[in-house]
Amino acid sequence: MATTLFTNIRLLVNTRSESNLLYGKALADLPCVENAWLLVEDDRIAGYGSMDNLPASYSGVRELVDAKGCLVLPAWCDSHTHIVFAGSRESEFVDKIRGLSYAEIAARGGGILNSAGKLREASEDELFNQAWKRLEEISKQGTGAVEIKSGYGLTVDSELKMLRVIKKLREKSPLSIKATFLGAHTYPPEFKENHQGYIDQIINEMLPVIGKEKLADYIDVFCETGFFSPEETARICRAGMEYGLKPKIHANQLNLSGGTQVGVELGAISVDHLETMDEAAISTLANSSTIGTLLPTAAFFLRMGFQPARKLIDAGCAIALASDFNPGSSPSGNMNLVVAMSCIQMRMLPEEAINAATLNGAFAMELAQDLGSITIGKKANLLLTRAVPSLAYLPYAFGSPLIDRVMIGGNWIS
Ligand code: NIG
Ligand code: FE
Repeated sequence: MATTLFTNIRLLVNTRSESNLLYGKALADLPCVENAWLLVEDDRIAGYGSMDNLPASYSGVRELVDAKGCLVLPAWCDSHTHIVFAGSRESEFVDKIRGLSYAEIAARGGGILNSAGKLREASEDELFNQAWKRLEEISKQGTGAVEIKSGYGLTVDSELKMLRVIKKLREKSPLSIKATFLGAHTYPPEFKENHQGYIDQIINEMLPVIGKEKLADYIDVFCETGFFSPEETARICRAGMEYGLKPKIHANQLNLSGGTQVGVELGAISVDHLETMDEAAISTLANSSTIGTLLPTAAFFLRMGFQPARKLIDAGCAIALASDFNPGSSPSGNMNLVVAMSCIQMRMLPEEAINAATLNGAFAMELAQDLGSITIGKKANLLLTRAVPSLAYLPYAFGSPLIDRVMIGGNWIS
């Protein structure tokens, strides 16, 4: 049995005997063991404790890691990304610097449609290779589990092409991957004047194949003024639910679009973005078991107000943090930056941000039975930091590469 023993860990972070979704104030409760040891057997966490109680001998230890001065955390669980895309959109980035808004760029046929045009031209292999590089990049930055959406295809063939790429990534990558069908990301040019026609195509042509080939775990809709209304969102999600896809939707990004309310009504796993929230949306979310997934790097990149994390936490919501890695609103999947930005700009405590990016992120992908905390029996997806003085140093020194090594399923990947 392949065994790795870590000793002298300054702080072993997020140690739990059982893991529950963390609502409201409970998010600040981050159990840790100081001066700890940790044992990994094969791909699993096999034991941990204080160095004062280090078992005298372990047989079969393949590797001994002296983690003096370093922290060990569960790897990041990034529950919202769009990492399958073709090319990049830095010319729109410059347009934004010159003053155009995200909505204005979209209205001119840029934005999601720009990426859709590029994606339709790209072969499955090209898409796979580009996404594979992004997966390698984020895993080196500490991400061990990731949700990936379609939504840049917008035709039957191209949406299926994206989902097949995600399936192949899932088969080949050591990371845990969940797939989300986001056919309802925007209306393709062919259906500009016929929204009903596109929704019918999603429901009658895309979903049956996705269901049959088991190409997705979740269904997503961009519920937003000028995109899909709450009624359309409900219709599409209900159709997806017939095929066993649970809703995880884009809500309340640019407007008070009613996305949170419809998500909660549908029993969505999560409603994501939440830059634009009022009291009604906050209390609806707080009185539900739907997770609110905050994407601060998207707010940052689009120069918008950040998500009201404090209000959401104080109201009792279950909050997760994710990167939204995509070419238009967050061309970064760096979860270390997401955690730091949440502390700096949204006043989340470091403990809250780490819980939201690990355990609650795992819940937002229904992977918490296996990931998101240091729990005996869970998968050994671990971050080993450089020597740092404390936990708060991670978001504080936001620009320093503090992740030294990353272990996925018991194997070092960097
Ligand atoms: O989550 N807002 C909708 N979708 C993405 C951005 C898509 C794009 O601009 O390419 C988001 O921010
Ligand atoms: Fe998104």
